[in-house]
Amino acid sequence: MNILLLGSGGREHALAWKIAQSPKLTQLFIAPGNPGTASLGKNLPIAVNDFIAIKNAALEHQIDMVVVGPEDPLVNGIADFFARDEALKNIAVIGPNKTGAQLEGSKNFSKQFMVRHNIPTARYLSVTANNLQDGIEFLRSLQAPYVLKADGLAAGKGVLILHDLEETIAELRNMLGGKFGKASEVVVIEEFLSGIECSAFVITDGKHYRILPEAKDYKRIGEGDTGLNTGGMGAVSPVPFADEAFMKKVEERIIKPTIVGLYQEGIVYKGFIFFGLINVSNEPYVIEYNARMGDPETEVVMLRLKSDLVDLLEGVASGNIHEKTVEFDDRHAATVMLVSGGYPETYEKGKLITGLNQVKDSIVFQAGTTQKDGDIVTSGGRVMAISSYGNSKEEALKLSYQNARLIQFDKKYFRSDIGFDL
Ligand code: AMP
Ligand code: GLY
Repeated sequence: MNILLLGSGGREHALAWKIAQSPKLTQLFIAPGNPGTASLGKNLPIAVNDFIAIKNAALEHQIDMVVVGPEDPLVNGIADFFARDEALKNIAVIGPNKTGAQLEGSKNFSKQFMVRHNIPTARYLSVTANNLQDGIEFLRSLQAPYVLKADGLAAGKGVLILHDLEETIAELRNMLGGKFGKASEVVVIEEFLSGIECSAFVITDGKHYRILPEAKDYKRIGEGDTGLNTGGMGAVSPVPFADEAFMKKVEERIIKPTIVGLYQEGIVYKGFIFFGLINVSNEPYVIEYNARMGDPETEVVMLRLKSDLVDLLEGVASGNIHEKTVEFDDRHAATVMLVSGGYPETYEKGKLITGLNQVKDSIVFQAGTTQKDGDIVTSGGRVMAISSYGNSKEEALKLSYQNARLIQFDKKYFRSDIGFDL
């Protein structure tokens, strides 16, 4: 089978690494990919939202399946685009249609969905400029801290957690007034939940599902979970508190009603669902849904997935994922993200990366890198994810940190406390 994978981050390098191990694969193409994915397949210089160029590439390379890494093309309707096109409709797309992607693309949609299906989540109220007063009253009924979320995609920056009520009301006005553009024309105000977060992942054919290994990521730039939010600075799997009893609750109260809800509402969902969860006194609540895998969670989830990913993806496409088994690797996996100094604010690019050939016993998934005159240089905030196995979390992290120190580029930064709270 020929597969086209869309995206260019560490997540996509990890997916490519796993797909490339499948005996079912004939040829892998990655659009646009990065220097890491180039060693596993053929990179195509096509942007993930250029559907016409993707169509042409799919036909030219006789693609059987398109695996969508990031959320953008999903929210823009790539699955619908393929389904509607005579020449493309028999090509499987791994990723939900435009409506399904609203689970991630609209916080208001996902909250309403959870309420309809009795899925545990924080109490909320959605407000627009027309019912601002209701929003202020709702805020007054809550206790600090206050959670404000832009309804639409805001590049991971659309959530504010504030302690002062008056400041929150002012920010609510700012958001409705265009702070995040169209994304914050609707704002979801939520009750603050106090607990520890983790992420669960399923792969679904729209009716049946299989649970993948869970993970915990570390979103803040600073040690001890301080400072600005990032895309994610590292991750571990398994997550000790997500034990069998907790995951049973997650499955019964969250995963099953989500799959049944999507099916009952006639939403075509063939792909990954990422459940951002919070554990409040041993009870799981949904913080958010994502319509894709996580980054850097994928960099540990793929290490712990023993089964053939392409076989599972075939199950998604053919509607028989329930006939497939998902085997987990018993080992622990950890990943540490090397980032450009200054990230998540402004940072410099084009820094020469050295030491990659000295890495031993870790797998380096590249993210913000590019090829320049035969060298690999930085091209993004999150540069690479150093991923390792171990018989314990500590062992896996130790290997990642050893190798994180061997790789050099100007202003390299990483968090040295991944897994600290577990
Ligand atoms: P989201 O984009 O919805 O995942 O929100 C970003 C981050 O904000 C989450 O990972 C949580 O750390 C935090 N957060 C969001 N909603 C809540 C909530 N209701 N209570 C506590 N923390 C939250
Ligand atoms: N690491 C969080 C995300 O992928 O959304």
